[in-house]
Amino acid sequence: MKLSAELQEALNAQIGMEFHASYSYLSMAAYFEANSWDGFASWMSLQSDEERVHAMKFYTYLLDRGATVSLPAIEAPRRDFSSPLEVFEASLEQEQAVTASINRLYKIAHECDDYATVSFLKWFVDEQVEEEKAVSDMIEKLGRVGDNPDAMLLLDSLAGERDSEGEED
Ligand SMILES: [Fe+2]
Ligand SMILES: [Fe+2]
Repeated sequence: MKLSAELQEALNAQIGMEFHASYSYLSMAAYFEANSWDGFASWMSLQSDEERVHAMKFYTYLLDRGATVSLPAIEAPRRDFSSPLEVFEASLEQEQAVTASINRLYKIAHECDDYATVSFLKWFVDEQVEEEKAVSDMIEKLGRVGDNPDAMLLLDSLAGERDSEGEED
């Protein structure tokens, strides 16, 4: 079954969105590096890598379906933040926008009776629940920590342990 033109266009646009997310997390990692929040920087850097993996899943899927890969331009990410909390809030907004986009793709795939794409997208539907949860948890913890410098240092250090937890793929 040939991928519909609408779906092909939407899946290519999603590649751009995932790369933009990757780029954006890299910019957040740079902010944390520059402000000596090493744990948060490492968290963001891993997140950036993950988003690239997401983009490549769409890339490979399009090729597997014999469709055309047409990479869109990637907008420059935000660079200025005033606090770790602000970074994670921006990150949650971004994840919510990605979730909305994945849901839209899912709807189009259904409307096109393209069940292979519906099945492919299911992983992303589940992944977005995890992504929003991970960022929301951090926002909640940052809120709890407030201005306490010792607690902030501890949270930063815990964030840096993320890779050893193996909670994300
Ligand atoms: Fe993603
Ligand atoms: Fe994400």
